[in-house]
Amino acid sequence: MIYPIVMYGDPVLKQKAEELEQGSVDVMQLSEDMFETMYNANGVGLAAPQIGKSIRMFVVDGSATEEPGLEDFKKVFINPQMLEEVGREWPYEEGCLSIPNIREDVLRNEVIVMDYYDEEWNKHREEFDGLQARIIQHEYDHIEGVLFTDHLSPFKRRVLKGKLLNISKGKVKADYPIKAPLK
Ligand code: NI
Repeated sequence: MIYPIVMYGDPVLKQKAEELEQGSVDVMQLSEDMFETMYNANGVGLAAPQIGKSIRMFVVDGSATEEPGLEDFKKVFINPQMLEEVGREWPYEEGCLSIPNIREDVLRNEVIVMDYYDEEWNKHREEFDGLQARIIQHEYDHIEGVLFTDHLSPFKRRVLKGKLLNISKGKVKADYPIKAPLK
């Protein structure tokens, strides 16, 4: 099932999402739906708040990008906990399915260590770096109620204000179903 993707300005994107209790949600089905929604929008990551669910879960799949290091990078993260963010900060131009047609450089640490459960509720502790870490950090931000635009300078945000307002109103070109809060 393809969900509409929630647009910038919706309060669900600013909430800290809730931990999942094992058995409370069919995570197999939900992760399948989230992958389907993400592929339909040509994304490499999708967090549950972006489909209107304030729960601590996200999916990633970078295999279609042909970026080195992302070939087999397909995973489901449930109740993830960021344990470490270390290494040099490096800029990368990020985008977000909830903020179509805007891309900006964001600085993030190069290496992370994270605890998480997969869709079969196996627990993992894993280190990620480079673009894998970058995608996870972006999605992890989503379940903390943080968007990539929150990392931009006040000046940059002011410049983007009009565009962001239009996105909230649904006045944006996206080739996937969207749900805009001010529409
Ligand atoms: Ni995003």
